[in-house]
Amino acid sequence: MVKVRWSLILLLMTAATVNAQRSNKLELTQDFVDNNLNNAIAQYHTLMERVPAGVLPRTYLKANDSLVTAKSNSWISGFYPGTLLYLYAYSQQPDLLEEAKERLKLLEKEKNNKGTHDLGFMLYCGFGNALRLTDNADYEEILLTGAESLASRYNPTVKCIRSWDHNGDKWKFPVIIDNMMNLEFLNWASRVSGNPKYAEISKTHANTTLKNHFRADNSSYHVIDYDSETGAVRNKHTHQGADHESAWARGQAWGLYGYTLMYRDTKDKAYLNQAIKIADFILGNPNLPEDKVPYWDYSVAPGADVPRDASAAAITASALLELSGMAKGSKSTRYLRAAEQMLTSLSSPSYKAPIGTNGGFILTHSTGNFPSKSEIDVPLSYADYYYVEALMRYRQLMAN
Ligand code: GLY
Repeated sequence: MVKVRWSLILLLMTAATVNAQRSNKLELTQDFVDNNLNNAIAQYHTLMERVPAGVLPRTYLKANDSLVTAKSNSWISGFYPGTLLYLYAYSQQPDLLEEAKERLKLLEKEKNNKGTHDLGFMLYCGFGNALRLTDNADYEEILLTGAESLASRYNPTVKCIRSWDHNGDKWKFPVIIDNMMNLEFLNWASRVSGNPKYAEISKTHANTTLKNHFRADNSSYHVIDYDSETGAVRNKHTHQGADHESAWARGQAWGLYGYTLMYRDTKDKAYLNQAIKIADFILGNPNLPEDKVPYWDYSVAPGADVPRDASAAAITASALLELSGMAKGSKSTRYLRAAEQMLTSLSSPSYKAPIGTNGGFILTHSTGNFPSKSEIDVPLSYADYYYVEALMRYRQLMAN
């Protein structure tokens, strides 16, 4: 128990973060956090009963009461075991750990998957949490093998990790902002293996992304297409947003989270400054609704029939809780208050499903891929993961 608590402190907040947070009064209560984590556990028991063996839950279709699942090679495969492990860390309920371990067995083979950049999501969210909570050395081997697979996608001319492979003639070497979420995994691999290669790739990728992905207003493109032979930028696109010049909401959240974690791991002020710029773009955006749960794209005019993206709010809230501990003065307070408001909104009946409904997912109203007409206004496994992570981070702040 003591070991678990200490591991979580290391996981969730650096000492500097904790010190900076002490100057801000926390406005959410212990009851709020406990009630919502207990609610999440009850909901995940519903989900656990519904998920068939051999697959991972992705979303739920209310119209025909059907759970949509994915195989281990989907980018979302790590979120279900990862959420179970956060809930186990909170409750110590053994069935949550057992279910997570069963699903992780399905994911192990992905450590050899060199055909995707999504290994941070697929492996680190699940096995990373499992290693911290159980110290099972097998998980370390799986993660280190996976980090090597991910590193195989790095191109030293482009100075980035390649995102997608199958894109016809559209892109030559696409790099998406989501790719920043892999860097925590690579930084971990260097710390554990002693091989600096992974952290060097991580820093170089973050630097190239910082140079090419952002616009003058600090919003980011989704896809930068590079020439793999020269490293030149060929196209700046936004594939999952409203148009190429729009600010896709989840993309902004990935960038915010990515530069925040890069500052945590490197202490390079350039990353902190970038995270602050992204946070200020998000929070200052006139299209951010009063409840701070964004529409699916910040560039789309607000309206009652425009879908929200609760997953973007959950990722943003989790990142802002950490960034609040790194930023100073009024910015620190602003980020904390915004995260608190996001968590309050997500935990209200407007976004949180009653226990036993929603297929067992915690949150409603996320948007997966609006331009492809896919997963619009639905629950999504990654919305739940980052929501529970944010609650766990908040709980850690309360304990300090
Ligand atoms: N990484 C895929 C997405 O955010 O939709």
